[in-house]
Amino acid sequence: MTILVTGGAGFIGTHTLVELDAADHSFVVVDNFSNSSQKALTAVEKITNKPICFFDVDVRNEEALQQIFENQAAAGRPITTVIHFAALKSVSESVSHAVRYYDNNIGGLLKLLGAMTKSNVNNIVFSSSATVYGDPEALPFEENHPVRPKNPYGHTKAMAEQILDDWAKQDKKNKAIALRYFNPIGAHPSGIIGEDPNGVPNNIFPYITRVALGHLPWLNIFGNDYSTVDGTGVRDYLHVVDLAKAHELSVRYLEKSSEGFFKAVNLGTGTGTSVFQLVQSFELQCGVSIPYQIATRRNGDVSSAWANPQLAKNLIGWTAKLSIADMCRDGWNWQYKNPRGYN
Ligand code: NAD
Ligand code: WQD
Repeated sequence: MTILVTGGAGFIGTHTLVELDAADHSFVVVDNFSNSSQKALTAVEKITNKPICFFDVDVRNEEALQQIFENQAAAGRPITTVIHFAALKSVSESVSHAVRYYDNNIGGLLKLLGAMTKSNVNNIVFSSSATVYGDPEALPFEENHPVRPKNPYGHTKAMAEQILDDWAKQDKKNKAIALRYFNPIGAHPSGIIGEDPNGVPNNIFPYITRVALGHLPWLNIFGNDYSTVDGTGVRDYLHVVDLAKAHELSVRYLEKSSEGFFKAVNLGTGTGTSVFQLVQSFELQCGVSIPYQIATRRNGDVSSAWANPQLAKNLIGWTAKLSIADMCRDGWNWQYKNPRGYN
């Protein structure tokens, strides 16, 4: 059995490849390197000590995907499951380039499902996001919370889940898990792979590590007047290595299930951490001080978000094990050793 990993050169993809290898799964990677570099795959090879079979292919190229499925089957290594990471993920860019986001994220999923259907590949793990929930009616977020995304990026994730639900209903062999990630941060403890965003980061953790390096002068904290423990926004940060392991467990669950289904599953720790708490933990773990300024609230931000991760435990046997301190230490280890990322 072989797994096709789309977007395998990205932040979460690379960490997942390491966990798949550790659990003795074979995989092939498809990526168009629109938000990553082949150097990320070379770095994974340094950890696994094995060459990676990858295809520089866009997931919107259905024929190329079908060819990969056929070639793998002909070589006696049929693909049985797909982990679909490939997507564009910037909330702000999705507002200014909405059609590009629908084309890439929805167009890509439709072509992938088309190729899978033609090649009788029936299992998919999909990268969804807690962003599908929008403003919380109650916390923690349960999977049955209404889905009300607030931006085009979130809409692509919610639509993709609906498509997968319908795809699962069209053939009882089809099985799909949509993993709703909360806020993945940190890096592999080796410091060989990690998050490498282009330009000025949108997300808080890579922003903090760049302030720590001195590449950015200070952190702007978007609001200190929320009704939270200290006024700053609260999120459910989870270690990317924990997150990666959930994909391996999801593959196992899909492969052993006989009935077709679609399920959406939260992946978080179940604990909220404020911006101030994250900054303090980073300073303590890494011995670097993070200058900051209080800025106005960021448009579209919710005050607080954290998961109920019970379903992940019941269904795939996953719980997050690593702490905020681990996330800070490992994320800083990566950034410190690779101040220019993979370049
Ligand atoms: P990333 O940008 O690092 O990785 C995505 C990878 O997909 C990149 O290597 C990119 O080159 C590739 N890609 C994009 N479009 C493609 C296409 N059309 N064809 C082939 N390859 C393509 O992002 P990530 O942080 O690793 O996120 C992975 C997935 O998880 C995405 O679907 C993202 O929306 C989702 N997600 C991420 C977060 C987060 O905070 N990082 C949170 C929730 C959900
Ligand atoms: C976290 C907290 C900010 C930056 C986003 C996407 C979501 C998902 C993960 C893909 C908030 C505050 C941030 C900064 C700050 N991605 N902050 N200064 O917004 O929870 O989620 O990434 O699916 O879809 O929306 O994460 O890291 O941007 O923000 O004060 O420079 O940090 O206000 O409270 P967010 P984030």
